[in-house]
Amino acid sequence: MLNTRLQESITGIRVVKAFAREVFEEERFAESNRDLRDINLRTGKYIASGMPLIFAMANISTLVVVWAGGYQVLANYLTIGELVAFMSYLMMSMFPMMMLGMFLVTIAQAAACATRIFEVLDASSETVEKPGAATLPPIQGKLIFENVTFRYFKAIAPVLSRVSFTALPGQTIALLGATGSGKSTVINLIPRFYDVSEGRITIDGYDIRDITLESLRRQIGIVLQEVILFGATIRENIAYGKPEATDSEIIEAARTAAAHPFIESFPESYNTVVGERGVTLSGGQKQRIAIARALLVDPRILILDDSMSSVDFKTESKIQQALERLRRERLCFVIAQRISTVKNADQIMVLDKGEIAALGNHKSLMAESPLYADIYYSQLKPETAG
Ligand SMILES: Nc1ncnc2c1ncn2[C@@H]1O[C@H](COP(=O)(O)OP(=O)(O)O)[C@@H](O)[C@H]1O
Ligand SMILES: [Mg+2]
Repeated sequence: MLNTRLQESITGIRVVKAFAREVFEEERFAESNRDLRDINLRTGKYIASGMPLIFAMANISTLVVVWAGGYQVLANYLTIGELVAFMSYLMMSMFPMMMLGMFLVTIAQAAACATRIFEVLDASSETVEKPGAATLPPIQGKLIFENVTFRYFKAIAPVLSRVSFTALPGQTIALLGATGSGKSTVINLIPRFYDVSEGRITIDGYDIRDITLESLRRQIGIVLQEVILFGATIRENIAYGKPEATDSEIIEAARTAAAHPFIESFPESYNTVVGERGVTLSGGQKQRIAIARALLVDPRILILDDSMSSVDFKTESKIQQALERLRRERLCFVIAQRISTVKNADQIMVLDKGEIAALGNHKSLMAESPLYADIYYSQLKPETAG
C-alpha cells in the first residue's frame, strides 16, 4: 500500500507538480506511513508472542540433552565433564547462530533500502525556485519563447535549438512534427518541468524562472501525452487540481470533456474507483478524464499534448466543439493529429529536429512550406477516419 501510493505519486509526479498538489501528496504519504506502522506493530506483537515459544523449544531440547546425557553418564559411557562441555558448546553456538541469522536478514534489507534511497537523493530536482521569487499575478496569457535552446543533459546535443515565437492571449497554437521532433519538450518547458538551457520564456513579461512554481502552475492546465490517473474515485481524479470544487463544477468539466455520459453509465457514477483496485478504463476514457481535470482549474493557459489520440473522431469533434468557447478565452497549445484541430489554429508551428521549420497559419503554410503540405497530406488524419 505504501509502495503503491509512493509509486503513484512518483510516476505521476508531473501531474502532482502540474496541479501544484505536493502538500496533498505528502499527507497521503504520511497516512500510508501510519498504516504501515500499524501493520508493523501487529507483526511485532506476533513476533513477541512467538519468541517465548522458540525459547521454550530451546529449553526443552536442553532438557532432552541433559536427560539422555544423564543416562549415558550413569551407564559410564560419558563423563560428567564431557556432558557439561557438550552442553556449554551447544548453548554458546546456538545464540550466535540465531543472532547471525537475524542480522543477515536486517543487513540485506538495509542494503536494498539504502541503494534505493541514495538513487532518489542523488536525483536532483530539474527546476528550483529562486529565493524570494515573485508571485505571478493572474495572467493575460502573452507567452514568448526567446531563442530557447534546451538539452536534457549538459553534454548531449540540444533537443530544441533557438526556438522563438510569440503567443498572444486567446490564441490557439498547434504544434506539428514527426515523433521526436520536440513538440512535447516545447510544452514541458512552459510549466517549468525543465528549465531552458539558453534563451528565456516570458509570460506577460515575467521570466518564468523569476516567479514561484506554484503561482505559475496554478494558471496552467495541462493534459500530458501519457495520461496518469490515481487509484482513487473519478471525482477525486477530476478534482485533483481543485479539491474544493463542487459537484456541479466537476460535472460541467466532465461534460465539456465528453466524459459525463460514460461516467454516469458506471453503477457508482463519479464514485467509481479507477486503477489497480477499481475499474479499468480505456485509453480514450482516461484521456477524457484528464481533459476534465485540466478544465476544472479554469486555467489561463491550456495545454493538450496529443490528448485525443485514443478517442474516436465523433467524440473528438464533440470535445472540440465544447472547447471552442473555452479556447477563445485562453491561450491554448495543442499537439494533435487531426486536420480540423490544426487548420483552425491561429498559429501552426512545424518542428523539425528541434527547430522551427515553419510558423504561420494554414493558408500561409500551404503556400510556403512544402514540409507542412507534406504533413498535411500524409500524416494528418482526415475527418472521416476513425
Ligand atoms: N526525459 C528525457 N530525457 C532525455 N531525452 C528526452 C527526454 N524526453 C524526450 N527526449 C528526447 O527529446 C527529443 C524530443 O522528444 P519529444 O519532445 O518527446 O518529441 P515529440 O513530442 O515531438 O515526439 C527526442 O529525441 C527524445 O528522445
Ligand atoms: Mg510528444
